Amino acid sequence: MSIIEQLQRIENEARNKVSSAKSVEELEKLRVAYLGKKGELTTILRGLKSLSPEEKKEIGGKANKFKSEIDSQIKDKKEQLADNVSTDPSFDYTLPGRPRRQGHRHLITITMDEVTDIFQRMGFEIAAGPEIESDYYNFEALNFPPDHPARDEQDTFYTEGGMVLRTHTSGIQIREFEKRKPPVKIIAPGRVYRNEAVDAGHFCVFHQVEGFYADSDVTFGDLKGVLEAFCYELFEEGVKLKFRPSFFPFTEPSAEVDVQCVLCGGKGCSLCKYEGWLEILGCGMIDPEVFKAVGYDPEKTTGYAFGMGIERLALLKYRVNDIRLLYENDTRFIKQFR
Ligand code: PHE
Repeated sequence: MSIIEQLQRIENEARNKVSSAKSVEELEKLRVAYLGKKGELTTILRGLKSLSPEEKKEIGGKANKFKSEIDSQIKDKKEQLADNVSTDPSFDYTLPGRPRRQGHRHLITITMDEVTDIFQRMGFEIAAGPEIESDYYNFEALNFPPDHPARDEQDTFYTEGGMVLRTHTSGIQIREFEKRKPPVKIIAPGRVYRNEAVDAGHFCVFHQVEGFYADSDVTFGDLKGVLEAFCYELFEEGVKLKFRPSFFPFTEPSAEVDVQCVLCGGKGCSLCKYEGWLEILGCGMIDPEVFKAVGYDPEKTTGYAFGMGIERLALLKYRVNDIRLLYENDTRFIKQFR
């Protein structure tokens, strides 16, 4: 057998053995056997001495090519085995992959982000306040008389130390006004607590977004304009709003805003209890008593404030008929809102 033929034979043999190798150790043995110092290839190359320069050149070239090819075949195979890509013939590479389930924001967070985003684009800054609040920030500075029914234990959770779980986000108005000088234009999202009977529309914990603006000549018209722009963004352009006179101790005049029922378009349905309208927020011009409490001059400063329930907005926008669904963590419900 000529040297060329011997080379050819070793090459074929090496390729077959490497491709059917089952372990890294086996591959290492093959590498030593073929390419090592005492390996078959080395032995053949020793025989080259007796050949002519032309033959040496030809065979040497072939041998080097063989060496590097087998070398890289062994390396690839080692990687393959190390990656644990199975060489098991029963492994079916055509099977579809198992999708990894990915989490996503909860509907409440989605709605909260949408709301704050819309107001941020209208120039509102973001602020936050503590959920465990003092009577002063939750009630007193907001002009709640000492005997106001909202202080009743029916509605308010008290801590043993005489603090309250904030019943609304309006206390953030006081905290931020105390820290700043007008103009102040802020949006403040947060969780609030009320000791109420739980039903389809009420839960003991919910979220509000408070908005407030204090400057030198803010009018009720500004308030209407900003709320209208907000509702056009969140629901749909041209959606009808109704401002109903109302009362809050910290705003005067005050209003509650209803939006035309998004489900029936005002004709009346079970969502709007056949009213055609749904209440979404409370608002008004900031009461001079509030400005006095934070050291602003009520002769020079005017402002508006509004507070809306996030769950209510989420139910309306995404047509969910029970607030409790938002807190039950049933993934069949939650995963519909990505
Ligand atoms: N804090 C009020 C509530 O919880 C809403 C409100 C906020 C009303 C700001 C007027 C101004 O119902």
